[in-house]
Amino acid sequence: MGTATAIAHPNIALIKYWGKRDETLMLPAAGSLSMTLDSVATRTTVSVGGDSDVFQLNGELSTGRAADKVFKFLDLVRQLAGSDDRATVLSHNDAPTAAGLASSASGFAALATAAAAAYGLNLSTAELSRLARRGSGSAARSLIDRFAVWHAGDDDQTSFAEEIDAPDMRMIICEINAGPKAVSSRDGMRHTRDTSPFYPAWAPATEKALAEMLAACAAQDFTKIGELTEAHAMQMHALALSAVPPLRYLAPTSFAAFDRIAELRATGIETYGTADAGPNVVAIARPKDAAAVAAALSEFGATHIAAPGPGAYLEGAA
Ligand code: DP6
Repeated sequence: MGTATAIAHPNIALIKYWGKRDETLMLPAAGSLSMTLDSVATRTTVSVGGDSDVFQLNGELSTGRAADKVFKFLDLVRQLAGSDDRATVLSHNDAPTAAGLASSASGFAALATAAAAAYGLNLSTAELSRLARRGSGSAARSLIDRFAVWHAGDDDQTSFAEEIDAPDMRMIICEINAGPKAVSSRDGMRHTRDTSPFYPAWAPATEKALAEMLAACAAQDFTKIGELTEAHAMQMHALALSAVPPLRYLAPTSFAAFDRIAELRATGIETYGTADAGPNVVAIARPKDAAAVAAALSEFGATHIAAPGPGAYLEGAA
């Protein structure tokens, strides 16, 4: 029992997670696949002790829904550790929180890693991935180095992420609007499941796309990876748009960025786009093309280039 600090990075999915089969266990409707970024980080310190749980984010005391999620997560860790001790969680995030840059993924990956160590648990990467999943689904993937597949699984034991091989690539993140998004992924998924007439088609279509993506990664086929990435992102946004009332995450500028990505492809720079539950657009490209893609997208918002990065790790243990 003591104090531990962990660092985790966001991940961006090439095959998206949208919808849960089980909200308590956080089992996804289908598997997904992502790249962990080497840029923007969450650094979280968990110290066991004190009279009550405390959560501070970027130096400010957090209360309400965000803090409740953290305290519920600590309950899970305490259950595993057989402890009743409270804890203080100090977290610092480089990325704008809830702006569609997957801060919940790096946040819960860092929290799972730090809290497990602080409560004296010695968990494998797969076990930490399963634990992080309970905080935020996509966090299961931020435990993993470089490229991760998150197996949907049948139960708590079988739903975790693991590393896969994929060709080296860069993600060019274009921050079209760093403001908070209108509807969180958590609420948006639930709303989509409850109201979209197309939702029943989503899980089978995603499992098929995932199987094709895994084959493309194994074959080091960047073109196929790109085509599948963009198509699946559009399917996720089409699904969200088919909810009633619709969830419109992409802004006009997002579409302008997707048009620019298509123009770049037409001129021989092979790049493809994706977007999470917000207006930001993320392009993927081969390393040699990343700077040109970033320059071409910069008129739509601040851009930065990320390479495949490490899964969550304890400070001092990397
Ligand atoms: C659009 O993992 O943030 O980024 O599990 O409810 O916490 P919860 O949702 P979250 O959803 C991520 C959705 C996405 C797609 C993806 O990362 O696969």
